[in-house]
Amino acid sequence: MARRKPGQGQTALITGASAGIGVDLAECFARDGYDLILTARSEGALQEVASRLASAHGVKTHVIAQDLGAIGGGTALANTIKSRGLDVDVVVNNAGYGHAGALTSSDLPTQLGMIDLNVRALVELTYHFWDSMLAKKSGGVLNVASTAAFQPGPLMANYYASKAYVLSFSEALWEESRGTGVHVSCLCPGPTVSKFRERAGTGKTRLAKNAGAAMASAPVARMGYEGWKRNQRVVVTGLPNKFIAGFGKFIPRATLLRMVHNLQSPA
Ligand SMILES: NC(=O)c1ccc[n+]([C@@H]2O[C@H](COP(=O)([O-])OP(=O)(O)OC[C@H]3O[C@@H](n4cnc5c(N)ncnc54)[C@H](OP(=O)(O)O)[C@@H]3O)[C@@H](O)[C@H]2O)c1
Repeated sequence: MARRKPGQGQTALITGASAGIGVDLAECFARDGYDLILTARSEGALQEVASRLASAHGVKTHVIAQDLGAIGGGTALANTIKSRGLDVDVVVNNAGYGHAGALTSSDLPTQLGMIDLNVRALVELTYHFWDSMLAKKSGGVLNVASTAAFQPGPLMANYYASKAYVLSFSEALWEESRGTGVHVSCLCPGPTVSKFRERAGTGKTRLAKNAGAAMASAPVARMGYEGWKRNQRVVVTGLPNKFIAGFGKFIPRATLLRMVHNLQSPA
């Protein structure tokens, strides 16, 4: 008889599942037998991911296209999920974007949209499914922050701050749910191959020129997923990124700010 997979009979909701890290996170959950609810704005791309993973892993997949950057987008998605009679055991808040440059180098909607997607929608989705996880004493939340979460980021101020929020929020929920059976992890990748850099415009910074090769998205997702299974509070991907994330604690804040300012400057 085939061995029962750990996710069998459970459903993972994955945001930003049309591209990049989100596609690989979806694959990790599908491989372990989780049914999937995949969401992003690009319905065609989501359908492709959904049918590939359904046939590769024999899981049920559901596609719901939703702009999570729209105010109330998270609640609209939760309502659609509930109206379709679907249950969510794990919420993977992965959708996000950044914008490199000084605060006013982009328009205000681009800056506020980062808060709406990276923070607001993440809180909304966590809120809507949190009590049922606690009641079931299982499942949980995997939030995607960044190594940007560990210090302020001059010349990318809003993005760094949004990810600091995600890290702080996730760690607090990890503590609140300790011992309940609900797992909470915050995945903090460093530079990772995806469409992120193109949208964020981070390719021309000193950081991009001097950082080593970006990691592939598949191992990043795998580390996040494995960490979440262990209920690891924070998962920083790769040794150089662990060093960067830990380094800031040991140097004066003003020095750190100057260093990050320099790294985020055009090369
Ligand atoms: N790549 C990196 O270097 C890096 C490093 C650290 C942290 N991260 C974080 O990793 C996460 C995933 O990013 P990625 O690197 O995989 O980037 P990506 O390839 O650009 O993927 C972003 C995903 O988010 C979705 N998305 C964007 N705007 C959305 C909106 N308004 N509503 C709903 N979905 C939206 C995109 O789909 P649609 O466009 O179809 O909506 C896509 O599926 C983000 O939170 C990012 O901040 C990335």
